[in-house]
Amino acid sequence: MNDTFLKACRGEAVPYTPVWIMRQAGRYLKQYQKIRKKVDFLTLCKTPELAAEVTIQPIDALGVDAAILFSDILIPVEAMGMKLKFLEKKGPVLTPPVRNETALKKLSVPQPETDMGFVMETIKILRKELATRVPLIGFSGAPFTTATYMIEGGTSKNFLHTKRMIFESPALYASLMSKVTTTVLEYLKAQIKAGAQAVQLFDTWAGIFSPLDYREYVFPYVREVIKSLKSWQAAENIRVPVIYFVGSCSGLLEEMRTCGADVIGIDWRINIDDAIKRLDSDLSVQGNLDPCALFMPKEKIQYRVKDILKRASSARGHIFNLGHGVLPETSAENVASMVEMVHSFSR
Ligand code: CP3
Repeated sequence: MNDTFLKACRGEAVPYTPVWIMRQAGRYLKQYQKIRKKVDFLTLCKTPELAAEVTIQPIDALGVDAAILFSDILIPVEAMGMKLKFLEKKGPVLTPPVRNETALKKLSVPQPETDMGFVMETIKILRKELATRVPLIGFSGAPFTTATYMIEGGTSKNFLHTKRMIFESPALYASLMSKVTTTVLEYLKAQIKAGAQAVQLFDTWAGIFSPLDYREYVFPYVREVIKSLKSWQAAENIRVPVIYFVGSCSGLLEEMRTCGADVIGIDWRINIDDAIKRLDSDLSVQGNLDPCALFMPKEKIQYRVKDILKRASSARGHIFNLGHGVLPETSAENVASMVEMVHSFSR
């Protein structure tokens, strides 16, 4: 198996810089669109054979060094008891939004193996199919980012309801976060038991906070997940790397560095060498090309890829990635060229 990705997570020497792409399975791939014409997104997530098939599509098409489980961060929210729909153009809708004690009481902490069995089934199929190829990354939304969807009832621009709950009803927020944190922890343990070889926590929206509020309302919960996951792993004698990704992380790096993860995912709004300087030296980094850079001509993409590789050379380990998910409008050919550039320039 190609283990460059796992080695870079642990800070071990690698012959070239490994690369994978957030949202690498998705609408920018014709192969994906073909399957999506036949089934809706949630059915795709819940049909292990199909979810495994689309997980492998970018491995075949792009030559990336890791696979990421095809699913969504809102799957455990549905398992907690909320109604989930994905609307064309509008995105996810969760009902009813959790903004009071009554709505919170209706939610449960799911049993991952029974309530989200299709995810563990997908992982088992993938481990068989990927055995001699690349490692499989499992994932979850981090507690805060997961909670924003529950409080807002979907995607949000200014996170008014979330911030309002935090500042007006901190005790309600704390009880919600306690349920979400346990859910995320148990979900990741189940994915690792099923065969996930690394896990990523997506904290896409944590960058909306001042460092002070991040430290108080976001960090304790994600640190709790990672610390508990690590002590459980130590007891079970497993070593699965944890990646923590925060969107718009540049104001928060000093706060994030003691989260307990092996790898910190960096968005593109900061030079990766600056981020490395501000993080602990025993952390690897992942990132950080602007997804829109893939709309540039190839020579310009080359320049940016080289720049990131050079800047990241001071890290104990670097996994090349975009600074956020690849956009549906992106040319798959440019993505494949970028992967090739990362491999050839870093060799
Ligand atoms: O990275 C991968 O290839 C694995 C699969 C994956 C998806 N979503 C598939 C998906 C992963 C890791 C996610 C994570 C996710 N989901 C996040 C965190 C990362 C990020 O991008 O910020 C968030 C915030 C979500 C919630 C979500 N899912 C939204 C807001 C949307 C609608 C917007 C959109 O892009 O359509 C989704 C839908 C979704 N999740 C799609 C895919 C492939 C598109 C569904 C389709 O085929 O129509």
